[in-house]
Amino acid sequence: MFGAYILLFQSHTEFTHFLWKQQIQPGKTVLDATAGRGLDTLFLAKLLFPNSSSRLIALDIQKDAIEATQSRLKTEGLLDGNNIEIIQQSHSDLRLFLKPNEASLITYNLGYLPGGNKSITTLLDSTKSSLISAKECLEESGMISITFYPGHPAGFIEKDMLIPWIFEWDPKAWAISRHSFALRESSPSVVIAQRKCEQ
Ligand SMILES: C[S@@+](CC[C@H](N)C(=O)[O-])C[C@H]1O[C@@H](n2cnc3c(N)ncnc32)[C@H](O)[C@@H]1O
Repeated sequence: MFGAYILLFQSHTEFTHFLWKQQIQPGKTVLDATAGRGLDTLFLAKLLFPNSSSRLIALDIQKDAIEATQSRLKTEGLLDGNNIEIIQQSHSDLRLFLKPNEASLITYNLGYLPGGNKSITTLLDSTKSSLISAKECLEESGMISITFYPGHPAGFIEKDMLIPWIFEWDPKAWAISRHSFALRESSPSVVIAQRKCEQ
């Protein structure tokens, strides 16, 4: 019996998707702050729809990423008739799309577009400003999920500066955990911050 509850994750993506699946219920609002090629957005859409109250927003600064994400969701028949917005905009502007206390989950898969221009990447200052907004837009028990990729210079800086900053968030308001694989060079780190319910 016990063995059935032991989970071995092969990748950080498998790990985050497992957590998101526990977190998301149909009818909730979710924002993917880095749409990229749309793999995460598709996973989130499948958890949220069909449900007429669900809302999914996906942001990316690159046109290629927006088109790739739209195409992936369209191919799966999820784009039409569901409340999904895929928008070319920086995640530092996420307050334009979310009300305070609205989102159940806000996800960041930092770095550059796989197969794209590696010099266009998430950056410390805009990611930090986005996270400040994300904290305000999260409902009680809502979750922020951030995957850091320290294997490239900008990713190393994001991880080095932002993880210690996040670990200083008020422990009365936030439950924070971190996951990374041991024995894997430049392994991504996943930080999960969950807003506690007010007593
Ligand atoms: C690692 S990829 C995301 C992968 C994606 N979640 C997927 O499933 O394919 C990181 C993305 O962040 C985007 N990005 C960089 N800076 C951004 C910003 N300020 N706001 C939103 N997206 C940004 C990049 O264009 C890139 O597509």
